[in-house]
This record gives sequence, structure tokens and C-alpha cells, in this order.
Amino acid sequence: MTSPAAPSPPALGEELAALAESLARRAGGLVRDGRTRGLDDVETKSSLTDVVTEYDRASEELIVGALREARPDDGLIGEEGTSIAGESGVHWLIDPIDGTTNYLYALPAYSVSIAAADATGTLAGAVYCPPTDEMFLAHRGGGARLNGAPIQCSPINVIAAALVATGFAYQPERRAAQGRRVAGLLPRIRDIRRFGSAALDLCYVAAGRFDAYYEQWLNPWDRAAGELIAAEAGARSGTFPGGEGEPAGLVVAAPGVFDDLLALL
Ligand code: IPD
Ligand code: CA
Ligand code: CA
Repeated sequence: MTSPAAPSPPALGEELAALAESLARRAGGLVRDGRTRGLDDVETKSSLTDVVTEYDRASEELIVGALREARPDDGLIGEEGTSIAGESGVHWLIDPIDGTTNYLYALPAYSVSIAAADATGTLAGAVYCPPTDEMFLAHRGGGARLNGAPIQCSPINVIAAALVATGFAYQPERRAAQGRRVAGLLPRIRDIRRFGSAALDLCYVAAGRFDAYYEQWLNPWDRAAGELIAAEAGARSGTFPGGEGEPAGLVVAAPGVFDDLLALL
């Protein structure tokens, strides 16, 4: 029988957030400079629409290399293939470029997302948007910050006036289901945004730039850092049921519209 994990010391979250911040900034600089020089190597993954560039891989390599040095006993999971079991009770979730389609098209809505989790959940998270030089940061119990200043989700309480972000998976049949859901929601809210980076969608809820966000078929690295940042900014987080045979989806919203959005979903 394994004994229950010991709780993380209070200062650990802050320390890991600082590490995540510095690595997200370094990796973000690398991908931004690479995009300016031009992309040589663009391949597809799960479908024709799911792309990966040399800078997705270079960013993950930089982050993983630095984490292996700084915290050799931690576990690591990265979108571009990193999977290392750890022994410390802390593991990292890395999305080296979240919003690769935007990155490919030189649209300024992509990010580097790094989260550290323990047995209780996400402990620290950093989401860095290189084109705007915005760093969203949180550790558990410490509030959320944008470039060092505290942020809060929106005070909205009328669902019909809510600006709601969402995203779509890369597989056509999943998109068809997502299209049907968004069609039902659209007449009941202010408008929809499909920004193209789940991590930024969540941080925008944290900053009150969106009132809510929902999406199905997310991966753990898409959501871990941003969900903590949104929660620390006062947002509520939960799940909505998927259709038959589908997984539940994530919904994160300002508290004043959370229940009404959930009912609509
Ligand atoms: C994608 C983006 C997108 C979301 C997709 C994700 P990627 O991540 O976050 O906004 O709708 O579900 O897969 O592929 O750009 O890292
Ligand atoms: Ca992603
Ligand atoms: Ca990615």
C-alpha cells in the first residue's frame, strides 16, 4: 500500500511559479524570434489541420532540458512527446506552443503554457504570450497576476450579455458536434470568440477580457496552467456533459454567469 502524498510546503508553489515564469519567457523568446526568421519545417500530426513546427519541438526541448537540470526528480509531460515519470510528487505539464495554427499564420494569439502539479492539483502555472509580451502567472492560494499586477475575472451576472470563448478539436467529427453545440448557444449570449489558444482563453477569463470559456476534448497541457490562473482570479470551473459517447467538457466562467452557462451547455 502506498502512503498518502505529503502536502507540498507553502513556499513551493511560489518557487515553482517563478521557475515556470522564467522558462515560459525563455521559450517564448525562442519561438517569437523563430517566427520572425521564418519556418522551415511544418508537419501535420493527428489530422491535416493539426500542425507542428520546428519551434514547437525546440520550445519543448528548452523547457524540458532546463526542468531536468533544476528539478531532476519531477515528472514531465509535454505535448510534443515528453513523458517522464518522476519521484518527487511534482509533475509538469507543458504546451510548448499553444495556438500553433495562429503561430503558423503569424497571428498574435499563441502562448507557452507551463504548469506544475502535485497530488492535490495544479500548484503553479505560467502562460506567456510572446507577441504581446504578457505573462499570466499564479500559484495555488496566491491570486493571479498579469505582468505582476493582480487580475480578477469579470463581475458580469447576465448570461445574455456574456462574451464566451470556445475552441474546436482537430478531428472533423468532433468539430461537427462542437459546431452543433455552439449553434445552440450563440443566440443566448453576447457573442462567441474562437481565439485559437485554450491557455490564453482561460487567462482572458482571468483578466475579465472574456466572461467565460468552454471546450471539449482538451488535453491536460492545454488547460492546467490557465485553469489555475482563472480560478485564482475568482472564476468558477467545472464540467458539462458531452453528447453520447463523448467526454465531458471544461467550462470556466465568471461566477455570476457560471450556472446559467452550464444550463445552456
Ligand atoms: C489547441 C488550441 C486551440 C484549442 C485546441 C487545442 P495547440 O492547441 O489550444 O485553441 O481549441 O483544442 O488543441 O494544438 O495549438 O497546442
Ligand atoms: Ca494546446
Ligand atoms: Ca501545442
